[in-house]
Parts: sequence; C-alpha cells; structure tokens
Amino acid sequence: MSAPHILLVVGGGIAAYKSCELVRLIRKEGGTVTCVLTEGGSHFVTPMTLAALSENEVYTTLWDLKNETEMGHIQLSRQADLVVVCPATADLMAKMAAGMADDLATTLLLATDKPVLAVPAMNVRMWQHAATQRNVQTLRNSGVEVLEPDEGAMACGEFGPGRLPEPPAIWQRIRQALGRDVLAGQPEFEPTVHRPLFGRHMLVTAGPTHEPIDPVRYIANRSSGKQGFAIAGAAAEAGARVTLVAGPVSLPTPPGVDRINVESAREMARAVEQALPADVAVMVAAVADWRAATFAENKIKKRGAAPTPLELAENPDILATLARSPQRPALLIGFAAETQDVVANAQEKRARKQVDWIVANDVSGDVMGGDANAVHIVRDGDVVSLPEMPKDDVARILVERIVDALA
Ligand code: C5P
Repeated sequence: MSAPHILLVVGGGIAAYKSCELVRLIRKEGGTVTCVLTEGGSHFVTPMTLAALSENEVYTTLWDLKNETEMGHIQLSRQADLVVVCPATADLMAKMAAGMADDLATTLLLATDKPVLAVPAMNVRMWQHAATQRNVQTLRNSGVEVLEPDEGAMACGEFGPGRLPEPPAIWQRIRQALGRDVLAGQPEFEPTVHRPLFGRHMLVTAGPTHEPIDPVRYIANRSSGKQGFAIAGAAAEAGARVTLVAGPVSLPTPPGVDRINVESAREMARAVEQALPADVAVMVAAVADWRAATFAENKIKKRGAAPTPLELAENPDILATLARSPQRPALLIGFAAETQDVVANAQEKRARKQVDWIVANDVSGDVMGGDANAVHIVRDGDVVSLPEMPKDDVARILVERIVDALA
C-alpha cells in the first residue's frame, strides 16, 4: 500500500505555525502531505515553508488556470485519504458550516468525498460563542470530525479552551481517522496489529470531584488524576477512541484522548452518560460520596462562636449506576482506594457494585498524588497482584489485560 496522503488546509490564525510542525511529523511518520493555504493562513506562514517541509507543491488560489487543468480543485479534494483543517479558525468553520465555497480551501472542503478532520484554534470567547458552537455542531452533524481545542494560556493573553492541540496529539487523531477510514484491511497499516483496541471506545473517569458549598468553598479529596490519565493515554496508544471525563486537575491531556472537564459528581455522572455507548469503562475518579445539601449563593459568614452546620446529601454512585444501565459497557472496571484489608474489601465492592473488575490500591502511603502505585486487579475468581511500579506501567499492564479480555 502507498503511504497515507493528507490534504492539509492551513487556516489564518496564529496557531498556523504549529501546522508546519504537523507537516514535519506526518512526513517523519511516513505519510505524504499536500498543503492548501488560505489567504489568512498566508499571513502567518509562507507557501515556501510548507512546500519545503511537505516536499510538495502548495496550493493557494482557486483562480490558477494552470492548476485547474493539471490539478483541478475537485481532483485535489479527492486524491487524499483524509482532509485535515488545521488550524480551523472560527471564520473557516463558519464558511464550512454554511457550505460556502469562495476560495480554494472552502471549495475543496465542499467538493471532497473524503473524511474531514477539523482542528479548531481560536480565542476562548470566539470558541465559546453560540455562533461557533452552532457551527461546530452543524459540522459534526454533517460528518466532519471536529476536535475539542486544548485549554490553557493563549497567544492573545486569555486563558481557557481554544488552543490548538499539540502536533503529536493531532497526529494521533489523524492516525485514528486513517485507521478507521482508510487503513483497515491493508497489510502494511493493519491497525489491529499494533493497535489492538482499534475500533473500540473506552471511557475513563479520573481525578477528584469538587462539591461546591458556597462561591469560594468546596469539598474535595487528594486524588491527582495521574493514574486515570495514564490509563486513558495507554488506551489511546493502543488505538482506542478514548473519552476521558476529568475532575478538576491541571494535568495535560494525553495525546489522542477526548477530554471532558467536569467539577462535581453530578456533572461527572451526566458526562459519563452522554459519552455512552462504550466498550470498556474504567472508573478511576475519586468521586466525592457527599455534597453540600444546598449551595449558598453568597459566601457563608462566621456566626460568632457557633460553627455553621454543613448539611450533606449523597452523590449518585456513577459506577453502580453504569453497572445497572441498559448501556452497561461489556467490560466495566472500578477502582477502590483502601487503607486496610485491601483485597477483601475490593472483592466485596466488586460484588456489591456488580462490576467486572476492581483495581484495588492501598492508599495508606503516598499513592495519592505520587507517581507510583501498587495494585491488585480483582476479577471473577482471581486476583492479579502487581508490585509497586510507575503509574504509567500500571496503566500499560491494565490495558494489556483489557485487550486480552476483549479478544
Ligand atoms: O465505593 P467507593 O467510592 O470506594 O468505590 C470506588 C469506585 O466507585 C471507583 O471506581 C469510583 O470511580 C466509583 N465511584 C463512582 N461514584 C461514586 C463513588 C465512587 O463512580 N459516587
């Protein structure tokens, strides 16, 4: 089979410079790239840069007659295995959603019969604007895969979702899209050999939850999210489509993982439900068992010497609810943080919550927040006890076991 061919549309945003890195990465990994630069994009990177990196001609205009005879826009839009729009600006996505075709990029995006992956990057308010969100939904409804932008500090000085994901993460998604649509069944790129979870959807929860008391206070726990993030990353490496529902932690999103940030247990429960169906769910989050029964709109004041009573209400048990759901994943895995009788408590929890496996860890030491973990995988009839090792290694071993179980 020939190398996968990507048609890369570079839109006009500051993140365009990262598309140069993406071109380099695609070439390094054995793919070929043809770049189309929008008028806006050409203010940030030059055709020369993209031509040098892609070792291919760069296309910029619809009105180039020579190209219309030798390489018409229809042909250009169809000879690739995948069309990637990176960065996908608010303007470009609005045009795509509206079906406009007033330049080379939008024309070939309308004319293509190949899968399209859009990687948005823009100011946080532009991303959150109802118009952009509507356009994203329209594009998704019409089959375009629109990635979620990363969250963090932006070139414009603001903070929030809108950053272009890092090129290795984008490349991971390109590989997934190619695997699904192009590479299946083709020996050199047989996705199931090195990516045994190809075609599977894994749902992972990670981190603590924050249960608000008033505008400045919340109930929390010491979970760092590291183990759950490592599992999500290892599953994506193994080829799974991964949805990571993350409580409030400041960890980077592992490459190739779809991350949904939540704060409270009830938000996490909703996000989990919306992410279904899944083939596997690994519920690593340390969900708060209790929340404040009422949320005080204003900061609760001291009342002389008497402490303010805090009334609690029980949170939903997300794992147990999922176990009883008609959409229960074929393999449902819970975690159990224990400080004593670790295995016995895990066995009891496995039965009570009706899950397939419980991964039990002894948190009496500094597991929470640390980089190492020693776990027991408690299953129907056996217990696999692993020695203490880095959380990344625990994640890899667990994913290997999941692969075996699904085989
Ligand atoms: O009962 P316990 O909290 O020890 O159970 C731990 C397991 O249950 C973890 O997998 C955790 O993610 C899940 N859990 C949950 N919803 C809760 C409490 C725990 O999904 N409200």
